[in-house]
Amino acid sequence: MSKLLRIKPMSMLTEEAAEQGEHTLKRSLGAVNLVTLGIGAVIGAGIFTLTGQAAALRAGPAVALSFVVAGLTCAFAGLCYAEFASIIPIAGSAYTYGYATLGELVAWIIGWDLTLEYAFGASTVASGWAGYFNSLLQQFHIYLPPQITATPGTPLVFYHDQWLQLMSLPPGVSDAGLPHATGVVNLIAVAIVMVITAILVIGIKESANFNSAVVIIKVTIVCIFLVIGGWFLFKHPEIAKMNWHPFVPPPDGKGNFGWGGIPKAAASIFFAYIGFDAVSTAAQEAKNPKRDMPIGILGSLVVCTILYILVSLVLTGLVSYKTLNVSAPVALAIDATGVGWGSLLVKIGAVFGLATVMLVMLLGQTRVFYSMSKDGLLPKWASAVHPKFRTPWITTIVFGSFAAIMPAFFNIEVLSELVNIGTLLAFTIVSAGVWVLRVRHPHMERPFKTPFVPLVPILGILSAVYLMTRLMLFTWEVMIVWLVIGLLIYFGYSQKHSKVQQLPEPQAVQGD
Ligand code: ALA
Repeated sequence: MSKLLRIKPMSMLTEEAAEQGEHTLKRSLGAVNLVTLGIGAVIGAGIFTLTGQAAALRAGPAVALSFVVAGLTCAFAGLCYAEFASIIPIAGSAYTYGYATLGELVAWIIGWDLTLEYAFGASTVASGWAGYFNSLLQQFHIYLPPQITATPGTPLVFYHDQWLQLMSLPPGVSDAGLPHATGVVNLIAVAIVMVITAILVIGIKESANFNSAVVIIKVTIVCIFLVIGGWFLFKHPEIAKMNWHPFVPPPDGKGNFGWGGIPKAAASIFFAYIGFDAVSTAAQEAKNPKRDMPIGILGSLVVCTILYILVSLVLTGLVSYKTLNVSAPVALAIDATGVGWGSLLVKIGAVFGLATVMLVMLLGQTRVFYSMSKDGLLPKWASAVHPKFRTPWITTIVFGSFAAIMPAFFNIEVLSELVNIGTLLAFTIVSAGVWVLRVRHPHMERPFKTPFVPLVPILGILSAVYLMTRLMLFTWEVMIVWLVIGLLIYFGYSQKHSKVQQLPEPQAVQGD
């Protein structure tokens, strides 16, 4: 039992950080940079694609309230991430926090679980990206064979110069007489993940300027949508009134709509917030981590929550929520304003903005596996660095291929739910971790302290578990199978090869 609770000593972490040259990282990021970093990692397929589906299938216009529920859940977890990030200010992730504080088994579970977040996250965003990209091509009358644009068995129909999913046909429109096709494989999504993987293998210089530029583009597009849409609704209040009524549509008897539909939609649009934890990985580069880390984490959350609530209100005000189950809902809604260039702009913005989210996610994935392999928990190949490109190329290609195959066969709803359950589990463990650590090591130096412990961690755990219970049974089944596979690998390989297990006993125990 004590083996499973072995902790990675702080001295080892600092040594490794030095080895990787991370001690040379300049403490150059201020609060604004950290907020920007968070927003860059967060705004993506969640708001551009999933909001439309959640409104159409789960909550109607009340999806705006779902964003409040999901935002609160993230705020509790965010406060806990901030404490960990300040205790262990090393470029890393929840995996590193877990290893240094809660022991090897918990660290393994978080690391394995983060794969659900990052690799499946990249797949989910690829699915959303493919929808916008295809829609952009079709706007220029470039038609790919519809069979290679959707997951197997998806019924497609040609309507208004566009191939759409049959279920995306506006209510009341009959498909009789329209050309039909059936999806075989979503090759567009596969192709984009392959391109991103190739970029990661060759290596990208993570440039703060590039990140800021993409963030500015993304936020500008969202703001343009809000201004054009908001102005239109201001001029035509009768349209908003009609579309927002009823704000909470009556329940459909299957758990959707009504007040129960709000948390259900929250569990699915939770995806839109994922990525704010990226801020915590920059702890070592923050000028004043004690003050700025919480500002970065919570600030990006607040900005995104406000933008999301406004976007969902404008989206459901411009068109009936029933029509929003399409692959490019924001573009569809802006079309309703009659501003011809609006939808083109939204599609171009989404294509660029979503590509960078995939990049961040796959990069996060390779970093976690790289660290796990360095710790001996995964075979050496996972941390093998390419002699020329200096990137962890094998793990990048393995996970890039994995992330590329998933959206070929599974739709965005299935994929995003898997990401959500994985991330909510990580939030639960991180929240519990903060509390456990306060009890076990009350005197440890904590530059940032989560307020109201244990209340905030408890609320973090309860809200994350509650949202998990709103997800599909299938999602739970996959997660359980995933964790069982992970535990088999841990007991079959990792425990025997762990470097921490080979340390002399006293060194592996960390005091206050
Ligand atoms: N939050 C990110 C997105 O919505 C993952 O794409």
